Amino acid sequence: MTSRKILVTSALPYANGEIHLGHLLEYIQTDIWMRFQKMMGNKCHYVCADDAHGTPIMLKADELGITPEALIEGVSERHQADFKDFSIGFSQYHSTHSQENKDISANIYHKLNDAGFIKKRTISQAFDPEKQMFLSDRFIKGDCPKCGANDQYGDNCEVCGATYSPTELKNAKSAISGATTITKDSEHYFFDLPQFEVQLKAWTKAGHLQDEVSNKLSEWFEQGLQQWDISRDAPYFGFHIPGVKDKYFYVWLDAPIGYMASFKKLCDEQGLDFDEYFNKDSSTEIYHFIGKDIVYFHALFWPAMLMGANYRTPSAIFAHGFLTVNGQKMSKSRGTFIQARTYLNHLNPECLRYYYAYKLSSKIDDIDLNLTDFKQRVNSDLVGKVVNIASRSAGFIVKKFNKTLSAYAIEPELYHEFVVCGDVIKKHYEARNYNQAIREIMKLADKANQYIDEHKPWQLVKEDAKQAQVHDVTSLAINLFRVLMTYLKPVLPVMAKQAEAFLNIDTLNWQDLKHPLTKHQINAFKPLMSRIEDDKIEQIIEASKQNMQVAVQDKHKDDTLIQINDFTKIDLRVAKIIKAQNVEGDDKLLQLTLDIGEQETRNVFAGIKAHYTNEELEGRLTIMVANLAPRKMRFGVSQGIVLAAGDGELLHILSVDSNAKPGMKIS
Ligand code: MSP
Ligand code: ZN
Repeated sequence: MTSRKILVTSALPYANGEIHLGHLLEYIQTDIWMRFQKMMGNKCHYVCADDAHGTPIMLKADELGITPEALIEGVSERHQADFKDFSIGFSQYHSTHSQENKDISANIYHKLNDAGFIKKRTISQAFDPEKQMFLSDRFIKGDCPKCGANDQYGDNCEVCGATYSPTELKNAKSAISGATTITKDSEHYFFDLPQFEVQLKAWTKAGHLQDEVSNKLSEWFEQGLQQWDISRDAPYFGFHIPGVKDKYFYVWLDAPIGYMASFKKLCDEQGLDFDEYFNKDSSTEIYHFIGKDIVYFHALFWPAMLMGANYRTPSAIFAHGFLTVNGQKMSKSRGTFIQARTYLNHLNPECLRYYYAYKLSSKIDDIDLNLTDFKQRVNSDLVGKVVNIASRSAGFIVKKFNKTLSAYAIEPELYHEFVVCGDVIKKHYEARNYNQAIREIMKLADKANQYIDEHKPWQLVKEDAKQAQVHDVTSLAINLFRVLMTYLKPVLPVMAKQAEAFLNIDTLNWQDLKHPLTKHQINAFKPLMSRIEDDKIEQIIEASKQNMQVAVQDKHKDDTLIQINDFTKIDLRVAKIIKAQNVEGDDKLLQLTLDIGEQETRNVFAGIKAHYTNEELEGRLTIMVANLAPRKMRFGVSQGIVLAAGDGELLHILSVDSNAKPGMKIS
């Protein structure tokens, strides 16, 4: 069989947030498929990148007071660390904010423009006069034109469900600055999608898409294809449209090109032939794994762009459904919006890989991570069934038989049955029906355990005459374990590695299974996976709730809320007024001399003359802000302020219990 040349991608995660378990559904799905292809002896490259451009990333950087470049760099590091820890085996992980992507995007744009696929037209849009920027629908808020509900987004009302255009919204305000929006004209660049209608219709029916997806596309074709706005005005974080001042490519133009750019980088590093993969008559295969939310971009815009720029189109788009947790959308307040890192802090990543594989199919239905089922499934399948086969057999081989498997493959039918089943499992993997592959594998695991149960080596071992039988039974069990771990290797790469060490073999390999291991020395068995404890799941939920609270606080940074560290920045101290004096030429102020402990005195001017006599004040304990930057006043420097309560007319300086001491800190 000749080896296939395959390029796979996962959608590029946005560089303004952390990787969460929803994203991971896709990266794990792709990674399993890639690892499977490699095991089949195919060449398979897996590229991805951070999707680094666009308004949200620009605004987020603004909010944090850093450059977008600094933001995306930090995010990229965290994304890559998360992916690595989940064993996502990218051949290349790049960024859309890269030279390769800039070059290829410009190149594709020129080709599309030269071929007459780019149109210009002036459109009116909401504009934030304060921020001096155009606002997309999601950054406009106002009152619903239908039901009047306040604080609704620019395109739909969450209260009555009405959809409308942002210009219909009443009291429209910028969600960024709060300024009342105005309407402003600007020239935009459009990709003329309707010119591709015939070609696209043919392409979408030619087996490149799942049935559900191509049905969805038929609906879109019926509604009619629209020109696609690919430009954005400054300020924007992205690539300049070549030769146009202050206009940028819309993030979704250069995002899919990011697949090519990442692969280009891989080609440059490894001496691969980029054109062999992307030229029009390429015999290589390209697959894009995506979520169902971004089908429009991948099944319409992207192939059309490739057609227009004279590149080959993808072999297929593999869309998956959305992750729900405990039957509901991931929720920050319920603690089910779980970040990759939060999970990693508590649990073994292979457990999640296994559970996703157990659930994933080639369909686009949503997938539920039921946390109770997750725990039970992992404990019963991986720990209770698979690992158990090795753990209950290895001891005999190691202790009784000098770590060496027996010379004969007994029960050849059973072993053969395990090997033959590999063909069905292969088909399921290839078709992305991992759930069915796992079902087959677990049926085999049950059989292996039954076999051990029936032969009871722990009893046989007590009879001297039965030692050879013990050796054979446990050796076969170890061989069955080897078959199962080979089948699970795309899903559980780390556990497979440990199994390789235990079995004392180079790599678990599909082809090698024809021959069982006989007279082969193994290593001592170390537990390959431990049970998921109940409290781990609770800890993850709790930690996720806390992440959410931190995120909510971050959001309110600009608002009136302060953080605890803002509060502790203020050095509040007990102060004793040791002297109160009039200030010459001012009838509001008193000059106070304050004892703030450790022999330090402060000079403070306070506007309390109308409320106290000097004698009333002298000797009193009060509270002052001791680390206020000194202010130079007409009569001298004021070194802090004294706290007082007032309603504009009356004023009362704060008091402290008389046994407090000057200089005590207030917290
Ligand atoms: N940046 C775009 C993709 C550009 S591809 C040229 C994007 N980024 S994303 O970070 O929002 O999502 C990345 C991938 O993760 C998408 O395929 C998306 O469908 C998938 N998922 C994000 N949340 C998900 C779930 N809750 N469940 C399953 N997949 C999810 O879209
Ligand atoms: Zn409404």
